[in-house]
Amino acid sequence: MTLNVGVIGVGMIGQDHIRRLTHVLSGARVAAVTDVDLDRARTVADDLPDAGLHASGAELIADPGVDAVVVTSWGPTHEEYVLAAVAADKQVFCEKPLATTEEACSRIVDAEVAAGRRLVMVGFMRRYDAQYNAVKSTIVGGGIGLPLMMHASHRNPSVPDFFTSDMIINDSTVHDIDTARWLFDDEIAAVTVLKPRVSSKARPGFNDPLLVLLEMSSGVLVDVEASVNSGFAYDIRGEIVCEDGTVELSESAGAIVKKAGHFSGRVPADWRERFSRAFDTEFQAWIGAATAGTSTGPSAWDGYAATVVCDAGLAALRSGAREPVTLRDKPDLYKSDPSRETRW
Ligand SMILES: NC(=O)c1ccc[n+]([C@@H]2O[C@H](COP(=O)([O-])OP(=O)(O)OC[C@H]3O[C@@H](n4cnc5c(N)ncnc54)[C@H](O)[C@@H]3O)[C@@H](O)[C@H]2O)c1
Repeated sequence: MTLNVGVIGVGMIGQDHIRRLTHVLSGARVAAVTDVDLDRARTVADDLPDAGLHASGAELIADPGVDAVVVTSWGPTHEEYVLAAVAADKQVFCEKPLATTEEACSRIVDAEVAAGRRLVMVGFMRRYDAQYNAVKSTIVGGGIGLPLMMHASHRNPSVPDFFTSDMIINDSTVHDIDTARWLFDDEIAAVTVLKPRVSSKARPGFNDPLLVLLEMSSGVLVDVEASVNSGFAYDIRGEIVCEDGTVELSESAGAIVKKAGHFSGRVPADWRERFSRAFDTEFQAWIGAATAGTSTGPSAWDGYAATVVCDAGLAALRSGAREPVTLRDKPDLYKSDPSRETRW
């Protein structure tokens, strides 16, 4: 059976996911597209075999030829489309963020709970990255004892002019926030943001880098160095310190070259290169689950929790203080999530 997918928002990542669905993965096809920029949507549709063009997201979701929906429009528009897909009883993959406010995320959680089954997957693709999974298996079963701390780095070579210090939290560190929740199968209890010496490459008024300290409920501390003008490459690092050993993301998925008394390897140029396989694996998992009429991976609860932690991070950036994170009660629907297997 082929899953007929409708894509809302055909900008950068929307087009990349369409390429993935059309040319890389099996079991799905792009049946329809839409975008607030209809000319862009038309150009994309023209390049696809038999893809319909819709004037609005609502129309696309209502199309009986669309089995499942991908939302890759701008963050503030996600809530409307995810709620409409849930109301139409269609599986939906929503790029992060699930929604941009705690209240909007909560409305999605309520709608899914009312539907009585999972319909929403959020695009936190690091959970599908081979290196992160190797780290997770080691802390779960690798005999290195209970985790105590994690040191992480999220370094972008550069960012566009519209990027702000807030976006270092909302757009970059949000991935580390989700990764910490997933790796330790735990919620984040508080956030502190420190502002080191400002990089001379940052625009005036821009705090870059930031040091974000996440306190897990268990007491594990996660420090994230987030910098977006690092210049040299897209460098994602992570080391977990446990009671009897450490485990860290491997330095390079490619080859290490030894030559003339030195060794060297490739550092990815950007997030597309670093996480390309993770995006593929993530989408294949979604296609499989959606075809079976269910969902998998990062849930609406995960999207909700990430947004609440980001809000605490923004408050901490402004106050300079430790900001506690308060989550609503977790609905039963999310308590037996098979993608969250770690227990300690
Ligand atoms: N998982 C990741 O690492 C990752 C990476 C990049 C982007 N994203 C997320 O994907 C989303 C899209 O990002 P992007 O970089 O592709 O942005 P983009 O600006 O390139 O594309 C967004 C598209 O959505 C369209 N759009 C805006 N409002 C709309 C609406 N109301 N209805 C329909 N279409 C609408 C725009 O016209 C544009 O074509 C964002 O939420 C972003 O955070 C996630």
